[in-house]
Amino acid sequence: MKVIRPPDRMISVSRKLTHQGKTIGVVPTMGALHEGHRSLIQASVRQNDLTILTVFVNPLQFGPSEDFSRYPRPFRKDCRIAKELGVDFIFAPHAQQLYPKGFQTVVEVTALSKRWEGLSRPGHFRGVTTVVSLLFQCTQPTRAYFGQKDYQQALVIQRLVQDMRWPIKVSILPTIREADGLAMSSRNVYLKSNQRQQAASIYTALRTALERIRMGERNAAVLTDSVRRMLLENADLRIDYVALVDAKTLEPVWKLHGRVAILVAVWVGKTRLIDNLLVDVP
Ligand code: PAJ
Repeated sequence: MKVIRPPDRMISVSRKLTHQGKTIGVVPTMGALHEGHRSLIQASVRQNDLTILTVFVNPLQFGPSEDFSRYPRPFRKDCRIAKELGVDFIFAPHAQQLYPKGFQTVVEVTALSKRWEGLSRPGHFRGVTTVVSLLFQCTQPTRAYFGQKDYQQALVIQRLVQDMRWPIKVSILPTIREADGLAMSSRNVYLKSNQRQQAASIYTALRTALERIRMGERNAAVLTDSVRRMLLENADLRIDYVALVDAKTLEPVWKLHGRVAILVAVWVGKTRLIDNLLVDVP
């Protein structure tokens, strides 16, 4: 396994591999690898001749009061995990290399980026789509892997790739969870033990809503209310949003039908967590 820092080197390596007819799987991450990342890497290793893991904590996608500087960066441990899983290259550019002096281009997906995470984190998706475009340019993926955990992000990237007609297959893989249901996240390390317990109620509330849908509930307001009530039983938990949305457009639905997503974003103390479930409503 090789670590590559300069974008130009990554470009020449990936071009060469493409010319040799190799398929390239790319897994974009900000590092601090956990089981969720692992499952994306494993899928890529299975499905492609070569896998490139990108590790880059992207300053463009963090707001001024967000956790950019304290975001965990256990790079050596990440290298060990990547090697173990059969990753061929880690692309880990320095910020000045990816965004050199004079850099001034942004890439934006409009409507899909507006609601939910886009409202709570202005500029976030612009940062994500800009960096992912650059990472794709450097790594030339045949397939790229994203997690359902960040469902809106995955849809935004699919839209980007479709609109730009890039020949990349974007896969969205299921959310990997802790034993109590909490979605794995690099940010879970911020949680104190009592907060960690309360965070598990996000999944409990989502599952309860799913159960009620299976029992026949079709009224979105009733369902969001019940999720909110369950979340608010936790003293340290503040709700950012709870929404039932069309799984393709992310527009709110009132009466459930077809494929819908239940989206949740909460603050547990100073840590912001998101989660979601997809449901097919007959
Ligand atoms: P990061 O938060 O490191 O996540 C990298 C990838 O892992 C994303 O596609 C994310 O959805 C996926 N992932 C995270 N937790 C997961 C879980 N519990 N189960 C399954 N997949 C999970 O998302 C980013 O980085 C960045 O925004 C990035 C796309 C790399 C652009 O900077």
